[in-house]
Amino acid sequence: MWEYTEKVKNAFLHPKNVGEIADADAVGEVGSIICGDALKLFLKVDKESGKIIDAKFQTFGCASAIASSSALTELVKGKTLDEALQVSNQDIAGFLGGLPEQKMHCSVMGKEALEAAIANYRGETLPAGPQEKVICKCFDVTEDKIRKVATENHLTTVDEITNFTKAGGGCGECRLDIEAILSDIWSLKLPGKPPKPKKLTNLHKIALIQDIIESEIRPGLQADNGDVEIIDIEGNKVMVALRGMCTGCLMADVTIKGIQDKLRELVSEEISVEVYQ
Ligand code: FES
Repeated sequence: MWEYTEKVKNAFLHPKNVGEIADADAVGEVGSIICGDALKLFLKVDKESGKIIDAKFQTFGCASAIASSSALTELVKGKTLDEALQVSNQDIAGFLGGLPEQKMHCSVMGKEALEAAIANYRGETLPAGPQEKVICKCFDVTEDKIRKVATENHLTTVDEITNFTKAGGGCGECRLDIEAILSDIWSLKLPGKPPKPKKLTNLHKIALIQDIIESEIRPGLQADNGDVEIIDIEGNKVMVALRGMCTGCLMADVTIKGIQDKLRELVSEEISVEVYQ
């Protein structure tokens, strides 16, 4: 027997926004009755403000699927489409005070229906179709979905993938493939911060500083039409010049401190960053 929170029980027994919107602006449909869960989400969008003014759902599934769908509609109402896309499956579960681990796939289904509905509204095609590699034939779960859900929810074990996608929860034949995908994801993208090098030669330190400024700092500044250029590096002193919109900006001190903090975090606590005069 699953341990449901009071909020899940309440949303299951008294779900909000059940039904269909006859003149919906967007419809997102995911899952299949054959696989046990299906959800159809209807959205009404205000053309001027771009906000979701109504959301309803029809679902076939368990108590968690109904509660998750109800939570989803409550979470997205009043949001713009871009704001709604920020709603994660963890937000859906959180709105309900949590879901049993084995039922997290219901929150994932809600997030997928939302993405499908917004793609439908925007006339986009989601990357789904016969070209996708199906890993779990029992539940029709693709490799892309396993990768996306694992990354977004920091899942590292096959059982967790089963909880969040159902993949691997049937005949079990796909479990080795799921394990291979997980090991590929987490060997490529180690969670957490990159470890600081223990002892750096001057050359390594300079290369590391250049690399961090190029990959971690400049893209953010350039997005705001600013930039930074390394002028010189002497020991732990990094001299930089701010460019573009950063030049003469009132927030220049904050920008320099941000660069220094990042370099202290990733290179050495001794680093100081100064503006080249
Ligand atoms: S193929 Fe995945 S559980 Fe059967």
